[in-house]
Amino acid sequence: MSKRITVAIDGPAGAGKSTIARRIAHKLGYLYIDTGAMYRAIALWALRASVGLSDMHRLEQLANEAIIEFVPGTNAVLLNGEDVSEAIRAPEVSNAASEVSLVPAVRRALVRKQRELGEQASVVMEGRDIGSVVFPDATIKIFLDAHPEARVERRAAESSLPPDVVAQQIGERDNRDRARAESPLVQAPDAIYFDTTGLSIDEVEAGLLKIIRDRTSNGKERTH
Ligand code: DC
Repeated sequence: MSKRITVAIDGPAGAGKSTIARRIAHKLGYLYIDTGAMYRAIALWALRASVGLSDMHRLEQLANEAIIEFVPGTNAVLLNGEDVSEAIRAPEVSNAASEVSLVPAVRRALVRKQRELGEQASVVMEGRDIGSVVFPDATIKIFLDAHPEARVERRAAESSLPPDVVAQQIGERDNRDRARAESPLVQAPDAIYFDTTGLSIDEVEAGLLKIIRDRTSNGKERTH
C-alpha cells in the first residue's frame, strides 16, 4: 500500500530552501508548495489595494478571500487567477510579507489553505512553521540553515541591492521571523538540522534525497 508523503522544509531566508525544495519535489514527483509565496501574495494584494499593514481586519479578509494556486510543473504562482510569480519578489513585497506574516488571523487562513494543499498529494512544503505548526506529523522534517554570511552572499547574488543593504534586510526579517509571538521560526524537535554553508546545490540535493529515501523506503512508495 502506498501513502502520501509530506516533506517539511523550514529555515531562515537565504538557507537555500526554495531552490532545493523545488528540485527535490521535481525529482520525487511531489507537489512543491512555497508557503512564503502565499504570504507574499497577500502582501502584494494589500499593497495594491492600499490596505494598511496594521489593518488586521482587512488583512484577514484578504487572506480568507485570496485564491492562491501553484501551477504544477512550473514555478508559477497565481493570485485570484493572475500570474504574480514575479511581482511577489519585489523588495517592497518582501518587507510587507514579513509584516503581514505577523498577523495571527492571516496565519490561520493561510495555514488552513496549506493543509488543504498538503492533503491532496505528496508534497514538499517549505516555509518557517511547516514542521512545527502546519504539518506537525510530517513524514520528514528538515531544518535548513547556513551561516549568516553565506545567506547574505546568496541573497545578494540574486538581488540588485548592495550586500550591506541585503544583510540589513535579512537581519531584520530573521529577527521578526524568530521573535514573533505566533508561530515563530523554530526548529521542530524532531526535525533534522542540515547546514548548507559551503555546499553546492547538488550536494545539498543529494544529502536531502538520501535522508528522504532512507525514511520512505526510497521515496517510491507514494501516490499523488
Ligand atoms: O520565504 P520567503 O522569504 O518567501 O517568505 C516571505 C515572508 O513570509 C518571510 O518574512 C517569512 C514569512 N513566512 C512565514 O512567516 N511563514 C511561512 N511558513 C513562510 C513565510
